Amino acid sequence: MSGESLRVEDRGAFVLATLDRSEKRNAIDQDLVDALHALCARLEVERRTLVITGSGGTFAAGADIAQLRERRATDALKGINTRCFQRIRALPMPVIAVLDGYALGGGAELAYAADIRIGTPSLKIGNPETGLGIIAAAGATWRLKEIVGDALATEMLLTGRILGADEALAAGLVSTVVESHAALEHAASLAERIAALDPAATQATKRALLAPASAHPEIELAEQAVLFESPEKQRRMTEFLERRGAKRATEESR
Ligand code: COA
Repeated sequence: MSGESLRVEDRGAFVLATLDRSEKRNAIDQDLVDALHALCARLEVERRTLVITGSGGTFAAGADIAQLRERRATDALKGINTRCFQRIRALPMPVIAVLDGYALGGGAELAYAADIRIGTPSLKIGNPETGLGIIAAAGATWRLKEIVGDALATEMLLTGRILGADEALAAGLVSTVVESHAALEHAASLAERIAALDPAATQATKRALLAPASAHPEIELAEQAVLFESPEKQRRMTEFLERRGAKRATEESR
């Protein structure tokens, strides 16, 4: 499955989506938004880990400014990027963003929608929207605060300051920085690790992580109640205990 500007590849343990409009620094236009919605529709059913990246040494240099300039109040209220990134955020399985080069404006907000962010040394991430006469309305004003805390998010959003890889790592905006050539491989190893875990438990964990503060701890208890009845939990725990038992028996017979 692929659109003109979004390459989608099945990689076994995960689906790899590459923003592929490098001549425009992968600026997110309506076609890309449509392709991302189509991908979400697939992953809401197929329930696979998504790794999202950009081509040409750039993640995404923002929403497409040529299209943004033409948008009016009614377009703003539709939340074209906002709804798309919320849908990505709400995907049942984890979303891993590989951030090489620029992740600016809407590109940064797409990155904030991921569950796990991996940077490369060339990363430049932030929200220059106010310099264009608009606000960062696709998640930055609430998600960035959650990720890096109030002080830095406020400074970034009010000054348009762009963080390099080291600062992004120190702020927890990316969980690791990996050389560009190895970053996808690292994302693949995380996706493979996730694929070995119980998908129902992974999805329940993601739902609990995304729930508002007021939903805790009831949401964890409800999720756990379902999992405590699952045959997969029984199987995994029995396998662990039997393995331990077998190991102990071998040690005792020595
Ligand atoms: N929207 C639309 N087009 C964009 C774009 C965006 N957000 N970002 C880059 N492009 C286009 C440029 O217009 C240029 O197109 P052209 O060759 O047809 O003129 C092409 O991508 C290459 O951009 P260029 O500026 O020449 O690349 P660069 O490597 O010198 O600089 C950036 C890269 C990211 C620093 C620079 O393109 C930039 O500042 N982009 C806008 C960032 C921004 O404000 N984003 C927030 C938007 S909400």
